Amino acid sequence: MKVLIINGSPRVNGNTTIAVREMEQTFAKEGVEVETVQIGNQDIRGCIACGSCGKSGKCVFDDAVNQLAPKFEEADGLVIASPVYYASANATLIACLDRLFYSTSFDKTMKVGASVVCARRGGCSATFDELNKYFTCCVCQKRRLLCNL
Ligand SMILES: Cc1cc2nc3c(=O)[nH]c(=O)nc-3n(C[C@H](O)[C@H](O)[C@H](O)COP(=O)(O)O)c2cc1C
Repeated sequence: MKVLIINGSPRVNGNTTIAVREMEQTFAKEGVEVETVQIGNQDIRGCIACGSCGKSGKCVFDDAVNQLAPKFEEADGLVIASPVYYASANATLIACLDRLFYSTSFDKTMKVGASVVCARRGGCSATFDELNKYFTCCVCQKRRLLCNL
Protein backbone atom coordinates (compact mmCIF):
# COMPACT_ATOMS: atom_id res chain seq x y z
CA MET A 1 0.00 0.00 0.00
CA LYS A 2 1.21 3.46 -0.88
CA VAL A 3 -0.14 6.87 0.09
CA LEU A 4 0.66 10.18 -1.58
CA ILE A 5 0.38 13.26 0.65
CA ILE A 6 0.10 16.64 -1.04
CA ASN A 7 1.01 19.39 1.42
CA GLY A 8 -0.51 22.66 0.25
CA SER A 9 1.23 24.86 2.79
CA PRO A 10 3.88 27.30 1.55
CA ARG A 11 5.62 27.04 4.94
CA VAL A 12 8.09 24.17 4.99
CA ASN A 13 7.91 23.55 8.74
CA GLY A 14 4.51 25.05 9.40
CA ASN A 15 1.45 23.77 11.21
CA THR A 16 0.18 21.78 8.23
CA THR A 17 3.52 19.98 8.14
CA ILE A 18 3.11 19.09 11.84
CA ALA A 19 -0.25 17.47 11.05
CA VAL A 20 1.20 15.74 8.00
CA ARG A 21 4.07 14.34 10.08
CA GLU A 22 1.56 12.76 12.48
CA MET A 23 0.00 11.00 9.51
CA GLU A 24 3.38 9.93 8.14
CA GLN A 25 4.23 8.34 11.49
CA THR A 26 0.91 6.51 11.67
CA PHE A 27 1.25 5.24 8.10
CA ALA A 28 4.81 4.07 8.86
CA LYS A 29 3.59 2.18 11.96
CA GLU A 30 0.97 0.46 9.82
CA GLY A 31 3.53 -0.47 7.16
CA VAL A 32 2.07 1.89 4.57
CA GLU A 33 4.60 3.47 2.23
CA VAL A 34 4.18 7.23 2.09
CA GLU A 35 5.52 10.04 -0.07
CA THR A 36 4.88 13.68 0.78
CA VAL A 37 5.15 16.43 -1.80
CA GLN A 38 5.01 20.05 -0.68
CA ILE A 39 3.46 22.17 -3.39
CA GLY A 40 2.30 25.31 -1.53
CA ASN A 41 5.70 26.91 -2.05
CA GLN A 42 5.90 26.09 -5.77
CA ASP A 43 5.02 28.17 -8.79
CA ILE A 44 1.84 26.47 -10.01
CA ARG A 45 -0.63 28.32 -12.18
CA GLY A 46 -4.34 27.60 -12.55
CA CYS A 47 -6.21 25.68 -15.24
CA ILE A 48 -6.90 27.65 -18.45
CA ALA A 49 -9.54 25.18 -19.69
CA CYS A 50 -7.68 24.72 -22.99
CA GLY A 51 -8.76 21.08 -23.26
CA SER A 52 -5.27 20.02 -24.33
CA CYS A 53 -5.16 17.33 -21.62
CA GLY A 54 -8.17 15.61 -23.23
CA LYS A 55 -5.97 14.80 -26.23
CA SER A 56 -2.48 14.46 -24.73
CA GLY A 57 -3.41 12.96 -21.34
CA LYS A 58 -1.32 15.53 -19.48
CA CYS A 59 -1.49 19.19 -18.59
CA VAL A 60 -0.20 21.68 -21.16
CA PHE A 61 1.85 23.33 -18.40
CA ASP A 62 4.69 20.94 -17.68
CA ASP A 63 5.31 21.67 -14.01
CA ALA A 64 4.81 19.95 -10.65
CA VAL A 65 1.31 18.84 -11.66
CA ASN A 66 2.64 16.53 -14.38
CA GLN A 67 5.20 15.18 -11.91
CA LEU A 68 2.46 14.44 -9.39
CA ALA A 69 0.22 12.67 -11.91
CA PRO A 70 2.16 9.34 -12.09
CA LYS A 71 2.62 9.36 -8.31
CA PHE A 72 -1.13 9.82 -7.88
CA GLU A 73 -1.87 7.03 -10.36
CA GLU A 74 0.45 4.65 -8.53
CA ALA A 75 -0.87 5.53 -5.05
CA ASP A 76 -3.63 3.60 -3.28
CA GLY A 77 -4.51 6.63 -1.21
CA LEU A 78 -4.27 10.39 -1.46
CA VAL A 79 -4.10 12.87 1.41
CA ILE A 80 -4.61 16.54 0.66
CA ALA A 81 -3.47 18.94 3.39
CA SER A 82 -3.91 22.69 3.48
CA PRO A 83 -3.74 25.72 5.74
CA VAL A 84 -6.98 27.72 5.81
CA TYR A 85 -6.77 31.03 3.95
CA TYR A 86 -9.91 33.16 4.25
CA ALA A 87 -12.04 30.09 4.95
CA SER A 88 -10.64 28.39 1.85
CA ALA A 89 -7.67 26.26 0.89
CA ASN A 90 -4.33 27.67 -0.16
CA ALA A 91 -4.67 29.02 -3.73
CA THR A 92 -1.60 27.22 -5.07
CA LEU A 93 -3.01 23.92 -3.82
CA ILE A 94 -6.32 24.58 -5.56
CA ALA A 95 -4.53 25.45 -8.81
CA CYS A 96 -2.60 22.19 -8.48
CA LEU A 97 -5.62 20.02 -7.67
CA ASP A 98 -7.84 21.50 -10.41
CA ARG A 99 -5.23 20.64 -13.00
CA LEU A 100 -4.19 17.31 -11.45
CA PHE A 101 -7.70 15.91 -11.28
CA TYR A 102 -8.86 17.38 -14.59
CA SER A 103 -5.84 16.37 -16.69
CA THR A 104 -5.61 12.75 -15.52
CA SER A 105 -7.98 10.12 -16.86
CA PHE A 106 -6.85 7.05 -14.87
CA ASP A 107 -9.43 5.38 -12.68
CA LYS A 108 -9.53 6.93 -9.21
CA THR A 109 -12.66 5.23 -7.93
CA MET A 110 -11.00 2.68 -5.61
CA LYS A 111 -8.39 4.99 -4.18
CA VAL A 112 -8.83 6.20 -0.60
CA GLY A 113 -8.95 9.95 -0.06
CA ALA A 114 -8.56 12.09 3.04
CA SER A 115 -8.21 15.79 3.72
CA VAL A 116 -6.39 17.69 6.46
CA VAL A 117 -6.97 21.36 7.22
CA CYS A 118 -5.11 23.62 9.58
CA ALA A 119 -6.33 27.00 10.79
CA ARG A 120 -5.74 29.60 13.44
CA ARG A 121 -9.39 29.89 14.43
CA GLY A 122 -12.07 29.42 11.74
CA GLY A 123 -12.98 28.25 8.26
CA CYS A 124 -11.97 24.62 8.71
CA SER A 125 -15.29 23.04 7.76
CA ALA A 126 -15.62 25.12 4.57
CA THR A 127 -12.06 24.23 3.58
CA PHE A 128 -12.53 20.57 4.48
CA ASP A 129 -15.63 20.49 2.29
CA GLU A 130 -13.77 22.22 -0.54
CA LEU A 131 -10.97 19.67 -0.50
CA ASN A 132 -13.25 16.66 -0.16
CA LYS A 133 -15.07 17.76 -3.32
CA TYR A 134 -12.06 16.58 -5.35
CA PHE A 135 -12.74 13.05 -4.13
CA THR A 136 -16.47 13.16 -4.79
CA CYS A 137 -16.34 15.06 -8.10
CA CYS A 138 -13.72 12.83 -9.70
CA VAL A 139 -16.16 9.91 -9.82
CA CYS A 140 -18.72 11.82 -11.84
CA GLN A 141 -15.98 13.54 -13.85
CA LYS A 142 -14.84 10.11 -14.98
CA ARG A 143 -18.25 9.39 -16.38
CA ARG A 144 -18.87 13.00 -17.50
CA LEU A 145 -22.24 12.87 -15.78
CA LEU A 146 -23.08 15.18 -12.93
CA CYS A 147 -20.46 17.87 -12.90
CA ASN A 148 -20.56 18.69 -16.61
CA LEU A 149 -16.76 18.91 -16.54
C1 LIG B 1 -3.51 34.71 3.75
C2 LIG B 1 -3.91 34.00 5.03
C3 LIG B 1 -5.25 33.82 5.33
C4 LIG B 1 -5.64 33.12 6.49
N1 LIG B 1 -6.96 32.93 6.75
C5 LIG B 1 -7.34 32.25 7.85
C6 LIG B 1 -8.72 32.00 8.13
O1 LIG B 1 -9.61 32.30 7.35
N2 LIG B 1 -9.01 31.35 9.29
C7 LIG B 1 -8.06 30.96 10.19
O2 LIG B 1 -8.41 30.40 11.22
N3 LIG B 1 -6.75 31.13 9.94
C8 LIG B 1 -6.37 31.78 8.79
N4 LIG B 1 -5.02 31.96 8.53
C9 LIG B 1 -4.04 31.38 9.45
C10 LIG B 1 -3.54 30.00 8.97
O3 LIG B 1 -4.59 29.18 8.52
C11 LIG B 1 -2.85 29.30 10.11
O4 LIG B 1 -1.82 30.11 10.62
C12 LIG B 1 -2.28 27.96 9.70
O5 LIG B 1 -1.89 27.26 10.86
C13 LIG B 1 -1.09 28.12 8.77
O6 LIG B 1 -0.61 26.84 8.40
P1 LIG B 1 0.93 26.66 7.96
O7 LIG B 1 1.77 26.90 9.19
O8 LIG B 1 1.04 25.26 7.44
O9 LIG B 1 1.18 27.69 6.89
C14 LIG B 1 -4.63 32.63 7.37
C15 LIG B 1 -3.27 32.82 7.06
C16 LIG B 1 -2.92 33.48 5.92
C17 LIG B 1 -1.43 33.65 5.57
